[in-house]
Amino acid sequence: MRFSNFAATLASAVSIVAATPLALQARQEAARFGLVFVTPRDFVGGDDITIVYNASTAIHHPEFVDFYIQGTFTDTSNRTPFFLIQRNDFAADQQILTLNEHVPEALNNLGAGSWVLTAFVTFEQDGLTEVGGISA
Ligand SMILES: *[C@@H]1O[C@H](CO)[C@@H](O)[C@H](O)[C@H]1NC(C)=O
Repeated sequence: MRFSNFAATLASAVSIVAATPLALQARQEAARFGLVFVTPRDFVGGDDITIVYNASTAIHHPEFVDFYIQGTFTDTSNRTPFFLIQRNDFAADQQILTLNEHVPEALNNLGAGSWVLTAFVTFEQDGLTEVGGISA
């Protein structure tokens, strides 16, 4: 489970969990936007994939859950841009979002591989709209 974060709110959270063992802390951080799984995990362009997002561990209930994929360029090892797969509304009483998607064939023309699926979660906190990401 990889983790990325768009929101600049970690500084305050870090002091709260500073006394927690590192592994536990990492798990708590990783789960704060929920959990996402994709099958097959090593997908390429043209594949049919199944995405399952599970909000039960999310600290703030999502308003939107947007699925993106990002790969690594074979020649430079740089990350590709994020490519949007599907935007989704997330209902107030919803916990699980399961989606069957077709990965665009055109991704195979970019000279990239090692594709990773990330769920970017939009939520409200303290009157502000934040986005955080969790990767499969
Ligand atoms: C969602 O995650 C929770 C906590 O890990 C787990 O108990 C539950 O079974 C999951 N639900 C699904 C449908 O995967």
